Amino acid sequence: MGRALSVSILVLGLFSSAHAIGQSTCVSFQASSSAFSVVDNGRAAPVFLSSSEWPGVQLAASDFVSDIQKVTGVKAQLANVTATSSDLKTAEVPILVGTLGKSSLIDQVVNNTKLNVSSIEGKWESFLTKVVSNPLPGLDKAYVIIGADKRGTIFALYDHSEQFGESTGVSPWYWWADVPVTKHSNLFISPSGCSHGSPTVKYRGLFLNDEQPALQNWAMEKFTNGTGAALTGSPFNHFFYTKLFELLFRMKANYLWPAQWSSAFNVDDPLNQPLADYYGIVMGTSHEEPMMRSIPVEWGLFGTGPWDYSVNNKTIYQFWVQGAERARPYESLYTMGMRGDGDLPLSATDAIGSLKQVVSDQRQILTNVYNGTNVTSIPQMWCLYKEVEGYYDQGLQVPDDVTLLWTDDNWGNIRRYPIPSERNRTGGAGVYYHYDYVRAGAVRGIEVETDG
Ligand SMILES: *[C@@H]1O[C@H](CO)[C@@H](O)[C@H](O)[C@H]1NC(C)=O
Ligand SMILES: *[C@@H]1O[C@H](CO)[C@@H](O)[C@H](O)[C@H]1NC(C)=O
Ligand SMILES: *[C@@H]1O[C@H](CO)[C@@H](O)[C@H](O)[C@H]1NC(C)=O
Ligand SMILES: *[C@@H]1O[C@H](CO)[C@@H](O)[C@H](O)[C@H]1NC(C)=O
Ligand SMILES: *[C@@H]1O[C@H](CO)[C@@H](O)[C@H](O)[C@H]1NC(C)=O
Ligand SMILES: *[C@@H]1O[C@H](CO)[C@@H](O)[C@H](O)[C@H]1NC(C)=O
Ligand SMILES: *[C@@H]1O[C@H](CO)[C@@H](O)[C@H](O)[C@H]1NC(C)=O
Ligand SMILES: *[C@@H]1O[C@H](CO)[C@@H](O)[C@H](O)[C@H]1NC(C)=O
Repeated sequence: MGRALSVSILVLGLFSSAHAIGQSTCVSFQASSSAFSVVDNGRAAPVFLSSSEWPGVQLAASDFVSDIQKVTGVKAQLANVTATSSDLKTAEVPILVGTLGKSSLIDQVVNNTKLNVSSIEGKWESFLTKVVSNPLPGLDKAYVIIGADKRGTIFALYDHSEQFGESTGVSPWYWWADVPVTKHSNLFISPSGCSHGSPTVKYRGLFLNDEQPALQNWAMEKFTNGTGAALTGSPFNHFFYTKLFELLFRMKANYLWPAQWSSAFNVDDPLNQPLADYYGIVMGTSHEEPMMRSIPVEWGLFGTGPWDYSVNNKTIYQFWVQGAERARPYESLYTMGMRGDGDLPLSATDAIGSLKQVVSDQRQILTNVYNGTNVTSIPQMWCLYKEVEGYYDQGLQVPDDVTLLWTDDNWGNIRRYPIPSERNRTGGAGVYYHYDYVRAGAVRGIEVETDG
């Protein structure tokens, strides 16, 4: 279908290694006496959830059922159930999906089976799956897919989909790059299932950048009726982003810096940010866009005066307050600091002194907007890109809880990694790596690690 191949090719290399998450395989294509049948002889195990489940898990479960159908041609039943639903009385052993503490169904299963969930409980994005006996009254057996949190359950589901074939079953790129789906008539899972603890890298994502002409023109054609957003002309609306959110999850990513050349995520389509959160994607903004507001586009539309804190702090402060207030209901990782307009250094003569004030003010804003929440518990990141790394090397102090994002030199060479004395920061460190730089519709890859 001629989709934005510039994106797919460029990101693939970055994420092929990310497949390491979920590396234990549990899916097979041959029956064995102990194996759990997802599809056997044209009959599919039904997939059951609780209606109290996270919306993002509901969406992933619906993709899971559609993936089973893509591979086998058999459509599995998908339904919300309670422990006493008559739906549970099916001929096939069901798959019960849910998030600890969120799914009343799974909480009951854990209670009834005394399943030991201590390996995942309270652990970011962890999951376990297995066959259990007597999960609910009147039900002898089930295959359970249990996440410690919403993305734990989401990743568990997509992890199975990816294994529904010898190399990949349903490729993350099945839609974006028309990757064919491997067909199998039967799908089985080993009774011990597949499990995964917390990923080593806490936030994993990409930056859609240098998006004109390739990605932007393509999105205009595919996702709009010929005109972009009223204020920006951008085609990057929620129809586009929902396709991207699904791709991110299938690649085990959870974080996104949206397109920003002539776009402003929240202005282009007011549904963009709530939908990201509904799916379960953590939003951020690029290295030059602090406090969840697009620069230069949003500042150009709504700001007044120069983008220069030394002469226009009152206006810029208020601009940031609005960004934090707008983002507060949703899961975000705030970009801190400030750069000059247009990917340029700050013009202030005392850049370090000015940045110190900027970050102190930004943290005050977060404290106020989050109603006195201890600012060290609000996820923040500072990208040491270009001249900013120089300020850091000259002694710019960065609060310990702020993740430092180390970068390459725009030619693919990482400039430096944290030295031992920097490795015990509570905010940890990450890497911003240009997979491609200012060529046809480049995608910039970023990975942020905040757990040391
Ligand atoms: C389950 O319930 C949720 C919340 O009411 C709803 O959004 C979802 O569509 C339901 N799923 C199915 C398969 O009916
Ligand atoms: C958990 O199981 C016990 C019996 O083992 C039962 O008494 C209790 O009500 C159950 N709790 C929940 C929340 O289902
Ligand atoms: C539960 O599993 C953990 C390891 O994940 C183990 O340390 C613990 O002893 C187990 N608890 C019980 C009650 O079996
Ligand atoms: C394009 O037009 C169709 C038909 O009126 C409408 O359903 C769809 O939502 C429109 N798409 C956009 C992005 O406005
Ligand atoms: C802006 O800077 C001036 C002096 O440099 C200071 O008095 C004022 O409080 C600052 N305003 C804000 C909103 O930070
Ligand atoms: C802020 O926190 C205080 C104290 O916990 C509470 O009384 C107040 O309602 C909160 N305000 C908002 C807007 O959440
Ligand atoms: C905020 O949390 C940090 C880390 O737990 C702690 O050291 C600091 O004292 C807390 N600050 C306030 C104002 O409670
Ligand atoms: C980290 O380790 C260095 C020494 O290697 C020490 O100077 C610094 O205080 C430590 N920081 C924290 C937050 O523990």
